[in-house]
Amino acid sequence: MNEGKIGVFDSGYGGLTILNGIRKALPQYDYIYLGDNARAPYGTRSYEVVYDFTLQAVRHLFAQGCRLVILACNTASAKALRSIQQNDLPGIDPARRVLGVIRPTVELLGDLTRSRHIGVLGTPGTVNSHSYRLETTKIFPDVTVTEMACPMWVPLIENNEHTGPGADYFVKKYIDTIMERDPQIDTLVLACTHYPLLMDKIRLYLPEGIALVPQGEIVGTSLYDYLRRHPEMQTRLSTGGSIKFETTENPEKFNPLASLFTGSEVNASHITL
Ligand code: DGL
Repeated sequence: MNEGKIGVFDSGYGGLTILNGIRKALPQYDYIYLGDNARAPYGTRSYEVVYDFTLQAVRHLFAQGCRLVILACNTASAKALRSIQQNDLPGIDPARRVLGVIRPTVELLGDLTRSRHIGVLGTPGTVNSHSYRLETTKIFPDVTVTEMACPMWVPLIENNEHTGPGADYFVKKYIDTIMERDPQIDTLVLACTHYPLLMDKIRLYLPEGIALVPQGEIVGTSLYDYLRRHPEMQTRLSTGGSIKFETTENPEKFNPLASLFTGSEVNASHITL
């Protein structure tokens, strides 16, 4: 079996925004996208459950020939990445790698904010882990981070209600609340890979002059740099430019919305974890 693919994992559709960014930066590689849509959302689940589900997905992607897996999900990156890297990977195969999306995002934030006040919007899981505040303080101790959970946003997207009028109420509510908590925020991070789908509505309710930061391009650029610094990984990746989609949901349900995210037709296979 060809062992050189890159796996991209998310609880559902959100990781497709990261996949787009990665494929833009690195179109030559072979990818497998896995969405655990049948068990999404992860954002309100406990640490143990997110860790178990994520490890199952990583093992599955390794078994499909992935050498490198990107957790294209902030919730999984916050709750499962470190344990998998430190405790599981050495026993599974120390030559493979699992990377997340939080660190590459945080590394950029210090250069983006002028007021030194940033806002982070994410799932309850990501926000309660305080990963963004902890990581930001390590690199940019002068930056104030306000984190806020937006529990209704992922369900709106997973149910394809994010462009309808029902979404406006919850977009306005969370934007108003975070801006009231810290009116000095000049940079707002969409720290959930689903949220770029709400970008148009978020812009409607966001005061002018505030930078919105989605993660797709950031993660693409960061992976590009990572592979340049790690030739031992880069030389083992296969370069057929292919993409395969897998979902734990019914593909007939997955394909139409996934196609909206990627901008091209998606024909996923059903898998179980
Ligand atoms: N897209 C995921 C994230 O970035 C999680 C969404 C969810 O399953 O709650 O956090």
